Amino acid sequence: MRTILSTTELADLRASLALWFGQNARALPWRETTDPYHIWLSEVILQQTQVLQGLGYYFRFIDAFPTIQDLAKANEDDVLRLWQGLGYYSRGRNLLRAARVVVDEFGGNIPRELEQIKRLPGVGPYTQAAVLSFAYNLPHAAVDGNVYRVVSRLLGIDEPIDTPSGQKLFRALAQELLDPEEPGRHNQAMIELGALCCTPRRPSCQACPFAQLCVAHRQGNQLSLPVKQGKIKVTERYLHYFLVRIHSAGSIYTLIRRRGKGDIWEGLYELPLVETPEPQTLEGIFSTQDCGNLFEGLEGLVVHPKPVATLKHRLTHRLLHANLYLAEARSYTPRTTEGGYLLIDEEQRGQYGMPILLDKMLSSL
Ligand code: ADE
Repeated sequence: MRTILSTTELADLRASLALWFGQNARALPWRETTDPYHIWLSEVILQQTQVLQGLGYYFRFIDAFPTIQDLAKANEDDVLRLWQGLGYYSRGRNLLRAARVVVDEFGGNIPRELEQIKRLPGVGPYTQAAVLSFAYNLPHAAVDGNVYRVVSRLLGIDEPIDTPSGQKLFRALAQELLDPEEPGRHNQAMIELGALCCTPRRPSCQACPFAQLCVAHRQGNQLSLPVKQGKIKVTERYLHYFLVRIHSAGSIYTLIRRRGKGDIWEGLYELPLVETPEPQTLEGIFSTQDCGNLFEGLEGLVVHPKPVATLKHRLTHRLLHANLYLAEARSYTPRTTEGGYLLIDEEQRGQYGMPILLDKMLSSL
């Protein structure tokens, strides 16, 4: 895991967040208690529900079922009647099922162990961490929509928040930021900062305790973060690589070139490449402008008609379809102008760093 901020920056960040929270926190009833049942109840109610609307439900549930034993004894109709208006009724049903598991299997105590609390129906990673940290002050970062927004802006991370790998990354980063001394307060404060200050459309950066450190604030791209995969326009590109083999004096040589500035593969080596915005046949590839220059200097070029390897590669904004063609040539006369190739012994190809997708195709041969 990379370290994202220096120890001093982390300490400053935690301290300024705590100070901000002390001055700005709303007085909410689930913050005035450490009763794990009440905290869990509030978190289940607040999923997909605004705080103001959630308050009434929270009080009515606690009135009707003051303890988890009372809830476990309830019948489903009574619970769903109280849940009415919140929507997502499976949450209400899971609430009852989970209360029964707690009473039947955990002696009425909401577990403190991650492995155990995970077994409660409807209790996902956010709710697990929220209950463990708010009720027991255990060091688990609770990452809800507010926290995704705060972390992605603070650290300037455009990894999508709605993919499993993105969520894993944001949870790990939030865990690094977490104040190990006061994890419960820290989690509440991150949520509150996202809800009151680092808001989706009109963030109040001038009042934000993170403004000095915030990458998005410095770059002015707060409104573009966080990124959602569902909203990204993915363009498809077709990459046609050519492994050109030149037989000479008992060895096989091949052509590579270093990629210039401008993209994620900058500075890596690659084989001769033609990019097209649509799928292309070999004939189509050869009729493109790029291709004319591509094979300049090659004598007696013969390309095998079918790709010897193909691969799909997904990047945040691109879906790449790569083909690898095999070609033979008698000789290569290097160009004197910019952009010529390096002629290397094929056996030494592994010494040149290439994009993973090209590496994968080459090692499949
Ligand atoms: N939304 C979800 N959990 C919350 C909490 N504990 N405080 C405020 N807003 C929330």
